[in-house]
Amino acid sequence: MFLFAFLFLSVWHFPILISQQLCSLQESCDLCLSAGADCVWCADLTLIDNSTTRCMIRDTQNSCSNIQDVVGNFTILEDIEFSQQVQIRPQKVKVRLRPGESITFNATVKPAPNFPLDLYYLMDLSYSMRDDLENLRSLSVEIASRIFNISSDSRLGFGSFVDKPLAPFISTTPSNLVDPCGSSCEPAYSFHHILNLTTDIDLFTDLIANTKISGNLDIPEGSMDALLQVR
Ligand SMILES: *[C@@H]1O[C@H](CO)[C@@H](O)[C@H](O)[C@H]1NC(C)=O
Ligand SMILES: *[C@@H]1O[C@H](CO)[C@@H](O)[C@H](O)[C@H]1NC(C)=O
Ligand SMILES: *[C@@H]1O[C@H](CO)[C@@H](O)[C@H](O)[C@H]1NC(C)=O
Ligand SMILES: *[C@@H]1O[C@H](CO)[C@@H](O)[C@H](O)[C@H]1NC(C)=O
Ligand SMILES: *[C@@H]1O[C@H](CO)[C@@H](O)[C@H](O)[C@H]1NC(C)=O
Repeated sequence: MFLFAFLFLSVWHFPILISQQLCSLQESCDLCLSAGADCVWCADLTLIDNSTTRCMIRDTQNSCSNIQDVVGNFTILEDIEFSQQVQIRPQKVKVRLRPGESITFNATVKPAPNFPLDLYYLMDLSYSMRDDLENLRSLSVEIASRIFNISSDSRLGFGSFVDKPLAPFISTTPSNLVDPCGSSCEPAYSFHHILNLTTDIDLFTDLIANTKISGNLDIPEGSMDALLQVR
């Protein structure tokens, strides 16, 4: 398993005037360099005109002979060649930035053909999902063929959930325990693992075709219970 570190940097450009004002308020080199990406500090000790601030916008024209500036940079730490396992280059980049600064570096992605791909389809089968179950039934062949088109080394699994079969999550009157919606529904359950990860598309579509809807009482369902049990 490869670890990727993705860094999303948002670019925040103050209009020049605001940035200038922001720089000029800073009273030490430290504060100056952290105030904005474009602030620089004049450390010229001969500059004793205290009416001008020492913290200013980069490239300000003046007689300062000692400008303290720090510009962000990046170092590529790991850049292994593409292979079946390596699909992004570089793999590790160390970035040093000032607050508000942005930096650009190139990353290249090359999907490995027929990379192993497992899809476990976990379906909410509470009563309001009955139309979605219909959709899944009619789309199951297409879902499977799309997945296998992405990678021939794919497997499909299937499971479903409703909610904890206890009050107040479900109605516990005897008839509702057997059929929670009074129209040939399955009794409520927490999680059913229905199909192990397999390459058998027909089994996947058959099992989805034979899945029944169920029902419960309250609006939230036991999604997290089910997610934790997916295998
Ligand atoms: C400018 O500021 C420095 C340090 O705060 C001080 O020593 C110096 O007297 C000031 N110079 C003038 C001309 O006000
Ligand atoms: C990146 O910036 C830091 C801080 O200014 C500096 O110490 C480091 O040497 C720089 N690295 C490169 C590769 O320029
Ligand atoms: C990114 O790649 C493009 C095209 O190869 C190149 O022109 C550009 O300089 C690269 N940028 C960096 C930050 O390396
Ligand atoms: C399978 O993928 C290829 C190329 O990636 C594409 O041209 C083709 O339309 C896809 N077929 C289906 C059924 O999605
Ligand atoms: C999944 O596989 C395990 C062992 O490989 C087996 O014990 C279990 O019954 C299978 N489950 C289903 C739903 O087929």
